[in-house]
Amino acid sequence: MVANPDRVLIFDTTLRDGEQSPGCSMTRPEKLRVARALAELGVDVIEAGFPAASRGDFESVQAVAREVQGPIICALARCNFEDIELAARALSDAPRHRLHVFLATSAIHRQYKLNMAQEEILRLCAAGVTRARELCADVEFSPEDASRTELEFLAQVIEVAIAAGATTVNIPDTVGYTVPDEFAELFRYLRKNVRGIEGVRLSVHCHDDLGMAVANSLTAVVAGARQIECTINGIGERAGNCSLEEVVMALKTRAAFFNVSTAINTSRLYPTSRLISSITGMPIPRNKAVVGENAFAHEAGIHQHGMLKHHSTYEILRPEDVGLSRSHLVLGKHSGRHAFRERVSALGFELDELEFNRVFEEFKALADKKKELFDGDIEALVLRSEGCASGPWTLIELATEARSNCPARALVLLTHSDGRSVELSASGDGPVDAAFKAIAAATGIAVVLRKFEVHAVSEGEDAQGEARVYVEYNHKTYRGASVSTNIVESGTRAFLEVINRIELAQAGARVREERSATTPAATTPA
Ligand code: KIV
Ligand code: ZN
Repeated sequence: MVANPDRVLIFDTTLRDGEQSPGCSMTRPEKLRVARALAELGVDVIEAGFPAASRGDFESVQAVAREVQGPIICALARCNFEDIELAARALSDAPRHRLHVFLATSAIHRQYKLNMAQEEILRLCAAGVTRARELCADVEFSPEDASRTELEFLAQVIEVAIAAGATTVNIPDTVGYTVPDEFAELFRYLRKNVRGIEGVRLSVHCHDDLGMAVANSLTAVVAGARQIECTINGIGERAGNCSLEEVVMALKTRAAFFNVSTAINTSRLYPTSRLISSITGMPIPRNKAVVGENAFAHEAGIHQHGMLKHHSTYEILRPEDVGLSRSHLVLGKHSGRHAFRERVSALGFELDELEFNRVFEEFKALADKKKELFDGDIEALVLRSEGCASGPWTLIELATEARSNCPARALVLLTHSDGRSVELSASGDGPVDAAFKAIAAATGIAVVLRKFEVHAVSEGEDAQGEARVYVEYNHKTYRGASVSTNIVESGTRAFLEVINRIELAQAGARVREERSATTPAATTPA
């Protein structure tokens, strides 16, 4: 029997399904930072990764399992013994952990991906879930592509999973194909036709290919789901997953309709959303519900008039409900530690003394260059202060020269943590292009530039520009970001961050290769 039928668990898969989205991969320290933020946000379950995907994934899940307190830590596994055992090993240090086993069930997946008959799927499901239950008391089973699976067969598979010991049954709309009424009907069908279903927690996992992931998840709750799988900012495969902040605020704002609750501390939504955007380099659309820049902006005169009379005229959520306490209070070089600390904490950041001192120093340096500092500047300082990949290369000097109708020139002086110091100049189509070429020549890493974008993080003519650079190197996407009042410098630093990420990834791969050469094959992730 489910203990509290009115409580909906929030299962966050930002670190697994979210990280799978192109360009969103995270380093282990970044994953730990995200996992800690999710714990603070109050999610019930953190899906920390897919240990069989790579040794790096295995180690990240292990690190989260060891270091993050509070939520249940979960790892994904295909429905085979190796994956399941590996996931169990990665999770073993977490006080509360869950194995999430998945197996595709739809005719399309059976025919084209697995080449398996229904009987084989049923056999694998029983064997996999049984093995998972031997290793862990908390087992979730997902019939992948459930929403396109024949109803009777889906019910059969789920019945087998429950009989084998699954404690949560998740219904994924893997390709974002379903629509609300149909999905609710599917849940009702399963609740009526699957033996033992009343003894497990029903979960929902939606993708956003047709823009209905949140609506489909909410309708599943109405039809009996008591766990929602979602990601911060809705990041995820293709068009993404159900967005955590949207689904949680819908449940909260329309509590009288849904009659369920979550344990999310909604005042952490905005800072968590900004953190994920800063780490993944995935911008938040201005008009994004709940956390977008315009979510609480009122432009039309008639709306502003209404708002002045009473906020409820045009606002169904209060900015402070989601942790957005923006103000027009502007800080400058005469602002003291106290005022700065208050603003940092009003923006939802909790920094320890060491971090605070570092950010305060950066604030003072920035205030020397820029007359007024807005909330966007302060956010950028906090988020960037430890978000960037540090070293091995450091930019010591950058000089550029550009004239119309002439190629631009850039000179860079870089140092490497191994003691090297390299000075190189290059010409290019504009100062940014020249600086990128000089860095590529100095570091010996030639990449294909895919995207370069700059946007202002705050207001005014001296606003800081955040540069984001996306490149391709060895069939992988890498990204870097940096903020400065000088956009050529922020572009150059963002590009150098990309180079640092590539070097760090190469060094990590070398260490893993050396280690696996001395480790028995059975312990190496598939
Ligand atoms: O979308 C999906 O089907 C998944 C499963 C692994 C749950 O991510
Ligand atoms: Zn998914």
